[in-house]
Amino acid sequence: MSDKIQTLTGYFHEYGKSVTNPEEFWAKIADSFHWQKRWDKVVEWDFKGPNVKWFVNAKLNITENIFERNMYTLGDKPAIIWEPNDPKEQNQIITYKELFHRVNQFANAMKAQGVGKGDRVIIYMPMIPEAAVAMLACARIGAIHSVVFAGFSSSALADRINDCSAKMVLTSDGNFRGAKSIPVKPVVDEALEKTSTVEKVIVYQRTHENVSMKGGRDIWWHDAIDEVPDVCKAEEMDSEDMLFILYTSGSTGKPKGVVHTCGGYMVYTNYSFENVFQYSKGDVYWCTADVGWITGHSYIVYGPLLAGATTVMFEGVPTFPDAGRFWKIVDKYKVNQFYTAPTAIRALQAFGTDPVSPYKLDSLKVIGSVGEPINEEAWHWYHSHIGKGKCPLVDTWWQTETGGIMISPIAGITPTKPSYATLPLPGIQLVIVDGDGKELQGNSVEGNLCIKYPWPSMLRTTYGDHERCKQTYFSTFKNLYFTGDGVKRDEDGYYRILGRVDDVINVSGHRMGTAEVENAINEHPKVVESAVVGFPHDIKGQGIYAFVICDMEGRSEENLIAEIKETVNKIIGPIARPDHIQIVPGLPKTRSGKIMRRILRKIASKDTDNMGDISTLLNPEVVEAIKEGAKL
Ligand code: WT7
Repeated sequence: MSDKIQTLTGYFHEYGKSVTNPEEFWAKIADSFHWQKRWDKVVEWDFKGPNVKWFVNAKLNITENIFERNMYTLGDKPAIIWEPNDPKEQNQIITYKELFHRVNQFANAMKAQGVGKGDRVIIYMPMIPEAAVAMLACARIGAIHSVVFAGFSSSALADRINDCSAKMVLTSDGNFRGAKSIPVKPVVDEALEKTSTVEKVIVYQRTHENVSMKGGRDIWWHDAIDEVPDVCKAEEMDSEDMLFILYTSGSTGKPKGVVHTCGGYMVYTNYSFENVFQYSKGDVYWCTADVGWITGHSYIVYGPLLAGATTVMFEGVPTFPDAGRFWKIVDKYKVNQFYTAPTAIRALQAFGTDPVSPYKLDSLKVIGSVGEPINEEAWHWYHSHIGKGKCPLVDTWWQTETGGIMISPIAGITPTKPSYATLPLPGIQLVIVDGDGKELQGNSVEGNLCIKYPWPSMLRTTYGDHERCKQTYFSTFKNLYFTGDGVKRDEDGYYRILGRVDDVINVSGHRMGTAEVENAINEHPKVVESAVVGFPHDIKGQGIYAFVICDMEGRSEENLIAEIKETVNKIIGPIARPDHIQIVPGLPKTRSGKIMRRILRKIASKDTDNMGDISTLLNPEVVEAIKEGAKL
């Protein structure tokens, strides 16, 4: 791609073009890709439906753009550098040629097991190269992948399998994380008891733990690829065919399946990757996310590989065998761009600089942050101790739904400001509206962050429920995509994300719906009612605080709290486990019966000096009781 922004003037120039003539702007970028058939029209859209199409009627396969498009120049270059959990285990350096071979072979193996275009395939795997191979093999044959983070419980996995009627599950026997080996296949077995659509399960042997294999359903990965040819023709995909579904939490109900499609996602992830990180040929890039999240999809797998980059994939955790692991890996592979989450930075910052000092870190050119607001202290620590004060820090704001980075500095070009995501990427038309949907123009304003024009990698629908997509994102404010985030535009026109304005909490960069956690808590037979809120947490950004009304008969509070935590673990997974559970005599409610979360948030945040007017509550007396019993 030859559309890399080089200067600040260049950025403003590109941005201007992208707004005055978006079709011409995106057509020029899209022209550098390989299309089996060119588009009839660049974009067709309305936000009422919503109905959004990019590169209308074009045909392509994203894997041809990763492999065939670049093979002549890239064949022997490393595509994926895989670093295992255990530093003593052999790493893998997989060239583009080798990755192409593995993808084709596995694509054929999936076909042989009855999977084809349009079928849904669940990927529930650890951070091993086969997870990327699985995604790309699906894309090769037009199967729609849905990666489920391997930390989710069997019941969360079953919900996702059922929601998309998946035909196949790709998994592993187990998962190495730090000093532990975690069972994975048994979780799949349990999930499959609650589902009926899955015909085949392919199991990669990673930990060699004993697992049960069900005859006729379960196949070992190595058997599935045995003597399978490594040439597989790329399926012709329409630009608007689904590429993948990724489940994410919202403020209501069960997680929804965010749908991304082939053409637009390809163009935008490649474009944003090269620009934000200022990737140049030969650079080694590392994003520490898990492929189970959108960051892993767009900026470990698709964006970097489309750009012909070398992408590092790390199986382990930042603190194993010690808190210097990240920095050891940076030096080992001479990483040039490093992209991680504020929660990881804060966790490592707590160990001080001793684990950092043995490493040179002099290969780093750009450092990045994603997933949650980065507080100024973490920003400065990251900038000085990791970036050595010389690497631009790109604070990238985006969402599962946006598919790619929306607001971010262009590394080394856009001046940065701690805790500011700074400016929108070309093509991204932001608006800030007040509670009534009135646009707040000019600088020094604060309100709800919306987007008024489509961009190629935006979500198209929520799987199986288009109305939900419309209600969640396109109905709050007329003709606008609503992000759910609050934002400030300062006196220089720079954007600072202020956090969610809905009932969503961000725990270590992972999105959790308060309703979802409440539903899980309410599954415990002794729970009468619950209310969950977020509270400021030093490492995780936000923690989970649950206020619960229980039938205490015959139980100790301590046991009950432990059981409720276990229930949440079982229904969603450890990431949703509340940090605090407080058993309360009642929940503050309005006269119409609505829980006053504002009050609970204040109690959970130890901010009880000014509770506001509580006299209009149905039961003002519970507020005092809750305050007294607060677990802080
Ligand atoms: C929500 C999206 C983007 C991939 C990982 C999370 C918050 C994300 C930032 C940032 C402040 C951020 C927002 C957003 N968020 N990046 N740089 N600064 N907040 O994806 O799970 O879809 O969550 O994460 O609140 O809406 P996600």
